[in-house]
Amino acid sequence: MYSKKVMEHFMEPHNVGEIEDADGIGEVGNAKCGDIMKMYIKIDGDIVSDIKFKTFGCASAIASSSIATDLIKGKTITDALALTNQDVVDSLDGLPPVKVHCSVLAEQAFKSAVKDYADKNNIDIPELRDFVPDEDHH
Ligand code: FES
Repeated sequence: MYSKKVMEHFMEPHNVGEIEDADGIGEVGNAKCGDIMKMYIKIDGDIVSDIKFKTFGCASAIASSSIATDLIKGKTITDALALTNQDVVDSLDGLPPVKVHCSVLAEQAFKSAVKDYADKNNIDIPELRDFVPDEDHH
């Protein structure tokens, strides 16, 4: 049911933990399953230089955030924001359809961390102007 990639990232997730002096923190939850994800980012110029996550969630949420942080780390904010949950799913070699919302959680946690950073520093990020974490995505 799960790809080898999902199993690998679930068993040994990358970038787990918190960043104490994070520039932005995002926390999102899914109302349906009750899973919660928190992401911490460090910004250097316009680069996401570090990213860590904590997930109180299912195996797919853990695997999704693990691979999402791999994809995001080192990218510019703009390039990282262009990543979608579909990119996360593709990088995991697929997720079962009922588990796709878990990858959405990773995308949204990252976006809200960037929004937190932007709000704190009075930076306008056009891509996030209309961003509202979708609590009930599935
Ligand atoms: Fe909800 Fe996976 S079941 S995040």
